[in-house]
Amino acid sequence: MDFTKRVMSAYAKIDDPRLRSIIAALIKHLHAFVNEIRPTDQEFEFAWDYMARMAAKTGAERNEFLLMADVIGVSQMVESINHDEPGKPVGFALVGPFLRANDPFRDRGAADVSDDTPGARVRITGKVYDFHTKVPIEGAILDTWQAASNGLYENQDENQPDYNLRGKYRSDRNGTFDLVALMPTAYPVPTDGPVGELLRAAKRPPDRPAHIHFIVSAPGYETLVTQIFVKGDKQIEEDVVFTADEKMIGDFKREGDRFSLVYDFPLRRGVSTIPKAPIPA
Ligand code: BEZ
Ligand code: FE
Repeated sequence: MDFTKRVMSAYAKIDDPRLRSIIAALIKHLHAFVNEIRPTDQEFEFAWDYMARMAAKTGAERNEFLLMADVIGVSQMVESINHDEPGKPVGFALVGPFLRANDPFRDRGAADVSDDTPGARVRITGKVYDFHTKVPIEGAILDTWQAASNGLYENQDENQPDYNLRGKYRSDRNGTFDLVALMPTAYPVPTDGPVGELLRAAKRPPDRPAHIHFIVSAPGYETLVTQIFVKGDKQIEEDVVFTADEKMIGDFKREGDRFSLVYDFPLRRGVSTIPKAPIPA
């Protein structure tokens, strides 16, 4: 029997049909990959050591495996497979490694940014509505997070207060919301681990274009995981994690030393799920 078929048949008795087909496809494609590249012994040793080094960089606050999935386009691919509808103007984005559990609810109109955080403020208002009927959705939860203007999320930066630039808001009976955030800044993904080695080898800049994350959820609706990018930002085309696109552009308007943005979130009917936060409370 062909070697790959022999290995696949050794896993054919897995009871769960989904797991059985995943493992079969994994063996089939991994064997084809190994056959194609024909790794030397030294390359194979490098591969398992590289993975051990990824594991060493992984802990409660950081997941190097998730970051690898992000920079080779797999995370955005999974998001698109599960949620994108061709021709529909709703942008789904990967969650990324910086969503933190249990961020606080904040009042309508309140800022999620501490007074001493440098950078221009942006007031974001808009509406959550049913994509098909256009009816406003009351009580939707908008969970937002973003990096400070030094490029760091609060969990990476001991000088920021706990849960700075993170918060949850609710839409009112007209589906509207109102919050104050920080004008987003571009920042590099962490490059001090094996993923950084790969980016340097590929001569890829490690930067994400400026963005603000949102997860918008409501009972009876498919959860929208998205990000808002800045209209006219040249870095959008070079997003290191292949997420930014024209479906997620915000038209930020300058008003003196502040900005304003009007941005709506359409939700499709479906199952409401909440993504697992990579960073614990
Ligand atoms: C982020 O936008 O928070 C992010 C996404 C993927 C990798 C690193 C950071
Ligand atoms: Fe981010």
